[in-house]
Amino acid sequence: MTNKYIYFIANWKMFGDLTTLNSLDKVIKFSKNIKKNKIKLIYCPPSTLISSLSKRLKKTKIEVGAQNCHQSFDNGPYTGQLNSRMLKSVGTKYVIIGHSENRQLGDNDKLINLKIKSAIRAGLKVIFCIGETLKQKKNKKTYKVLADQIRNGLKSINNKSNIIIAYEPVWSIGSGLIPKSDELTKSIAHIKSQLGSKSSKILYGGSVNSNNIDKLKIIAGIDGFLIGGASQNSNKFIDIIKKTIN
Ligand code: 13P
Repeated sequence: MTNKYIYFIANWKMFGDLTTLNSLDKVIKFSKNIKKNKIKLIYCPPSTLISSLSKRLKKTKIEVGAQNCHQSFDNGPYTGQLNSRMLKSVGTKYVIIGHSENRQLGDNDKLINLKIKSAIRAGLKVIFCIGETLKQKKNKKTYKVLADQIRNGLKSINNKSNIIIAYEPVWSIGSGLIPKSDELTKSIAHIKSQLGSKSSKILYGGSVNSNNIDKLKIIAGIDGFLIGGASQNSNKFIDIIKKTIN
């Protein structure tokens, strides 16, 4: 853990409704007892809950993020889409861009680059997801894939201070599998070298849970975690945080 904060970002994906938000009371209470500046807690719920969640978290240290945005900074005829300014206007501070689940739906590097630029222009912080598939890993293409995703996704973005990288191996997401410690250490170092910036924050995501967090938290260069399934349960989420910071 290299930076000031340890990030815990909950990606709820397509999960949750207004009643689910009640379960966050436990996390809010827990967060009040944590030393200032020690952790950053961010919830990325489905867009339907952003507004309610932002209001609910107003007097807390917990921040809100979105799970994606449209590439257009301006409003336009894009049925079903939301742009970064709209998300910002309802209390969003962060946005996940380039998640592999959206890459599978058609988000390519070029589109991701446009989305990142639009989000930064709107004043959002970007959680930029990268990661190799199982096939790419087996073909020993991991480093090349990561380098390409970083180079293309961040093309002509000089100021990277509002960009957090989330390394999420696609084969690890939702599978219960995590990379071997030495492989993960090397991948994180590789990402850092590609970014050309020592201060860039790098998160790990993919099957993070309270059983494997002890292994993950000691990997050099990791500044926090992007957590899917386990973040939907407040007790499990709190458990992960406690095990990381204690
Ligand atoms: P899981 O933690 O459910 O594997 O999901 C990881 C993820 O995709 C977070 O963005």
